[in-house]
Amino acid sequence: MRDGFSYRREQMVSALRQSGIQDHRVLSAMAEIPRHYFVPPEWRHQAYSEDVSIHIGEGQTISQPRVVAAMTEAAALTAEARVLEVGTGSGYQAAVLSRLVQFVFSVERIASLAREAKGRLDALGIENVSIKVMDGTLGWRAQAPYQAILVTAGAPSVPEPLLDQLAEGGRLVVPIGERRQQVLTVVERRGDRVRRSELQGACFVPLIGRHGWEESSE
Ligand SMILES: C[S@@+](CC[C@H](N)C(=O)[O-])C[C@H]1O[C@@H](n2cnc3c(N)ncnc32)[C@H](O)[C@@H]1O
Repeated sequence: MRDGFSYRREQMVSALRQSGIQDHRVLSAMAEIPRHYFVPPEWRHQAYSEDVSIHIGEGQTISQPRVVAAMTEAAALTAEARVLEVGTGSGYQAAVLSRLVQFVFSVERIASLAREAKGRLDALGIENVSIKVMDGTLGWRAQAPYQAILVTAGAPSVPEPLLDQLAEGGRLVVPIGERRQQVLTVVERRGDRVRRSELQGACFVPLIGRHGWEESSE
């Protein structure tokens, strides 16, 4: 889609490529989705800075393009995949995923953010994303199993229900660590065994919920 931000978007994608993102499907999806649409108007000039997260209200943020790209690439998605995203936020990550897989289920605990995200996706004509307001640390059991699960808020440990809802061979990408500083971790499910690998450091807002952090200690 050509718009007034096309040139900046191309520059962002080229910076992502130079920073080591190799999956051309991920880069194409990010070249296509108008990220400026997902940030408040006063921050649009920053929308394509590859290393900047931006406040979207309710104390939450849209993650840096660099982190979105790294998480999406690490999920090793196929076109037939059904994917769960925990932490809809602005809806940007869900929009990127919508270009790469068959269906995206995205859950958000803050109703106003979920509503705004749905409005943006509808306006862009994106039809393969379903958003639900709930505690995403419980997953979305009715739609499981998922070939990939992306958690876009920082967890103290791997939420057990998410592991249960991962398909055989599926990948869970989740930032694990402290409330404000984590390590992006990839958990792969092979039968009864799981293989864990660490990707890079990250600074996500906390994952609040039954299998995450307590809200009161924010
Ligand atoms: C960094 S933001 C997500 C960015 C988002 N993926 C995007 O593309 O804009 C983290 C989001 O996770 C949400 N969140 C935190 N704990 C949650 C939970 N237990 N279930 C669902 N959403 C949660 C926050 O409300 C916030 O919107």
